[in-house]
Amino acid sequence: MSKIILTGDRPTGKLHVGHYVGSLRRRVELQNSGEFDKIFIMIADAQALTDNADNPEKVRQNIIEVALDYLSCGLDPEKSTIFVQSQISELCELSFYYMNLVTVSRLQRNPTVKAEIQMRNFEASIPVGFFTYPISQASDITAFKATTVPVGEDQLPMIEQTKEIVRKFNAVYGDTLVEPEVLLPNNKACLRLPGTDGKAKMSKSLGNCIYLSDTEADVKTKVMGMFTDPNHLRVEDPGEVENNPVFIYLDAFAKDEHFKEFLPDYENLDALKAHYKRGGLGDVKVKKFLNNVLQSTLEPIRKRRKEFEKDIPAVYDMLKKGSDVARITAAQTLSEVKSAMKINYFDDETLIKMQSEKYSK
Ligand code: TRP
Repeated sequence: MSKIILTGDRPTGKLHVGHYVGSLRRRVELQNSGEFDKIFIMIADAQALTDNADNPEKVRQNIIEVALDYLSCGLDPEKSTIFVQSQISELCELSFYYMNLVTVSRLQRNPTVKAEIQMRNFEASIPVGFFTYPISQASDITAFKATTVPVGEDQLPMIEQTKEIVRKFNAVYGDTLVEPEVLLPNNKACLRLPGTDGKAKMSKSLGNCIYLSDTEADVKTKVMGMFTDPNHLRVEDPGEVENNPVFIYLDAFAKDEHFKEFLPDYENLDALKAHYKRGGLGDVKVKKFLNNVLQSTLEPIRKRRKEFEKDIPAVYDMLKKGSDVARITAAQTLSEVKSAMKINYFDDETLIKMQSEKYSK
């Protein structure tokens, strides 16, 4: 069986370093590993509209931002098909049929949807489109017969829902769809990078994000202002590394080479942590190191972005071409789905023959 990746992001803002360690970095590695037969990367604008129905301009503006972020991280349209969800109408059609296989109570149990409903104050009146987006996400994944879905931890319930739909569909209509496997980040710090303020999640509204497209000066200001261990007041005090965002970021970003280059007094992160816990290591020194690590990671990304920014029409063209390619695969799957569901009346000769025999008697 071929190995196929599908994943994507909602275009509601520029992508930040949480997206990078949570998913983007891995995607590029997978893309370049040559282990996959096909890779589909989707800008999920239709899903973004499920909770931004009154703000289509925001979604529209961010398509290009996300596309630029993808390209600057090293996603390569020669190797990966990058496309825009709304341009593949087959996905809506699939969702409409999958809706028959999912109950309202099952959707209500989805923990990610639950949390989002709370966050958006949707409790009193939930838009149906938003409520059913896990079904639409199952369409995204199954339309491409994805075997592997690299995402962050918060997407686990969506993949679980997709698997259930696949099993149900195949049981009712015969083997048609492929059950996907989730691929989570392998490092705990990358599962959910906290905000620079130590809050559980980076979010634009909290203003605690470091964006991939931030300037060198912005990154430095944000790092130097980061929350650390609040009880680590004097340099001599012993400090805590767990729940300390500066160390969590180092867990996600720092490599041994970074120590050789920027902080040769320490062999690796374990040595730095040990010193911090013992006391005698100041936050400023650690933050300066983190800044160096981040700058050396982000600098090549920023540089590539500058190049792609020079030809924006070419980026839109890349998305259009990707969408044309993606549509072919989705249409093929939709046709198989409709045959399996027996809603292929006009290309089913045996049906037409049977019905005419019935009436010729
Ligand atoms: N839900 C994902 C997010 O919020 C975006 C997304 C839409 C997606 N469809 C998908 C991710 C299919 C993986 C597979 O970022």
